[in-house]
Amino acid sequence: MKQKFNRILVTAALPYANGYLHLGHLAGAYLPADMYVRFQRSMKRDVLFICGSDEHGVAITVSAEAEKSSPQAIVDRYHPANKSAFDDFGISFDNYSRTTLPLHHQTAQEFFSDFHKRGILREKTEKQLYCEKDKMFLADRYVEGTCPNCKYTQARGDQCENCGTWLNQTDLIEPRCKICGTKPVVRETAHWYFPLGQYQTRLEEYIKERNERDGWKENVLRYCEGWFKNGLQDRAVSRDLSWGVVVPVQGYEKKVIYVWFDAVLGYISSSKEWAMKLGKPDEWKKYWQNQDTKYVAFIGKDNVVFHCIVFPAMLMAWNDGPNKQFVLPENVPANEFLNLEGQKFSKSRGWAIDVRDFLRYYPADLLRYTLAVNLPESRDSDFYFKDFQARTNNELANILGNFVNRTFAFTEKNFAGVVPPLGNPGPMDKEIVALVKDIPAKIGEFYERYHFRDAVLESMNLARRANKYFNDSEPWKTAEKNPAQCATTLNISLQIIRSLAILLEPVIPTISRTMWKMLNLEGSPADAGWESAERMILHEGHRLNKSEILVTKIEDKDLKEMVDKLLTVTLSSNSTVAQIKPTITLDDFKKIDLRIAKVLSAENVPKSDKLLKLQIELGDQIRQVVAGIAQHYQPKDLVGKQLIVVANLQAAKLMGQESQGMILAASDSEGKLALISPLSEMSSGSIVK
Ligand code: MF3
Ligand code: ZN
Repeated sequence: MKQKFNRILVTAALPYANGYLHLGHLAGAYLPADMYVRFQRSMKRDVLFICGSDEHGVAITVSAEAEKSSPQAIVDRYHPANKSAFDDFGISFDNYSRTTLPLHHQTAQEFFSDFHKRGILREKTEKQLYCEKDKMFLADRYVEGTCPNCKYTQARGDQCENCGTWLNQTDLIEPRCKICGTKPVVRETAHWYFPLGQYQTRLEEYIKERNERDGWKENVLRYCEGWFKNGLQDRAVSRDLSWGVVVPVQGYEKKVIYVWFDAVLGYISSSKEWAMKLGKPDEWKKYWQNQDTKYVAFIGKDNVVFHCIVFPAMLMAWNDGPNKQFVLPENVPANEFLNLEGQKFSKSRGWAIDVRDFLRYYPADLLRYTLAVNLPESRDSDFYFKDFQARTNNELANILGNFVNRTFAFTEKNFAGVVPPLGNPGPMDKEIVALVKDIPAKIGEFYERYHFRDAVLESMNLARRANKYFNDSEPWKTAEKNPAQCATTLNISLQIIRSLAILLEPVIPTISRTMWKMLNLEGSPADAGWESAERMILHEGHRLNKSEILVTKIEDKDLKEMVDKLLTVTLSSNSTVAQIKPTITLDDFKKIDLRIAKVLSAENVPKSDKLLKLQIELGDQIRQVVAGIAQHYQPKDLVGKQLIVVANLQAAKLMGQESQGMILAASDSEGKLALISPLSEMSSGSIVK
């Protein structure tokens, strides 16, 4: 059964605002979503493209604790950075919102209250993990342990990153507190539970029906089958945390809504924000509350359960009530993961490339193209720098760029920069014209079916065929011997450039626009519309603009420079040097107050064979510092020495002794240790920077 849709709603997973976007994010959800949207806009469909920052949850609070700042400070830093990274990469969201907005809090509370009032949520007191040292319940990522499903040892309280299983924290084997590392105890706490199990049959039917209608991806169906097989369980949708959307139920003011319950509703609140900015506050309803909207949700594979099961169940629960009905996803084309040079992306290991860093070296379109041909559509794929160089040089520059520039150079030289007459096309001309006629529908079909790699390969194929056509037509010979035939070749070549600009716009929008501008055409390739790419529209006599370089080739040495700068970890994997930590800003570094200190006295700490207690002079202060260096230095060797100390580190107690600072030392993988001293004598208290 083919469904007739009158508009398209596209969402892309809201990335957590706790780190910079890297190439893996782009390939997972955002690039395919953007290509799809650009294609649909070019098809003249009514499209709304929505995203925003996910600013709640333990992902954010853990980051805040790690750098001793506040959750608000974290999201205020990463939200604007990620928003502009998406802009720079050419992602054409209609709105990029954030879940800390009051509008979003209201939206999430409205759903929660509705479910609560209608008796859908159940209150249950259950055992949860509690850390006695940190005096808190260990929600979600605050606890780590071994996954009961795949035995991965760093599974988080709510989800195993390795096998994707959505966990209940009490299922974890050997749980430990993420903050202090100790073993938590089990304590009772009351929460609201969403009865997911009650929706299982309807969810199975829903997925079956949508799959029949719109062809869901194999990988997505497999994940869902797995969950259904295990049987869906009740899930707690509140948490003992202070950061998030407050539970709108009396007596629950100290608890917040589970981040996934609020985050998926972020799509709706972001649409509301879009409508307000437009000055038509109800306009979002046109997309969300009409069953003739086709809703497509783009995500990475780790989000499948939340978008194919949890979110649809929430919408079903809402739709069962008296209020206006929401549309459910027609499809959830989740991608697998992109790896970097054969290894998983990992921020913490320094194995990642930030989008904005990359774009400081190369234009977005080059990256879009390489990512697009390598999208992890049905299995994990890789980004290789060498491949990036090869795709850019051999395909974008040598095929597309070469074809366009030769055509323009020839037209300028032989026809004064004006589109020459078509004349009488011969068999070879007719063959390429026929190809151009058929190819937009073919590529369009790939886009409609979420086969983005095929769409791009087929588009580049047209450029390849056009380049060959130009070669085989030998206009450099016909220019002298048969100018009319030369005119035919160039007329057709220019028409193909116009078609290519339209067909490639979803992938390389900036290059496409440059081609459009060179052709001296009005508006943009998308304005002209996808279907017009099959026709020969340029008029004889139309004046062209000057030609521009479309793509600059990537030199070995420039590529190497970028890799050396961006990938702080060396590419050879058997290095024994510990991996470099994630990049910090100068401001981050400036927070650390390093000083020269002079050791006045030193002694062993009683009952400890590791610790020494030092009295150090720091300008006009004297401080006590405890350091784990007793196995490397004798107290007497240190007196009078100058060292470097972290002067603004929070004081701590070690073996009952107060330590008011930390002295710097180097250590290696063999266990060797050396204290760090200035090369020449300095006055104590001097700033180190
Ligand atoms: N922030 C989540 C992640 O990065 C994705 C949230 S998608 C949403 O995995 F639908 F919940 F918003
Ligand atoms: Zn697992």
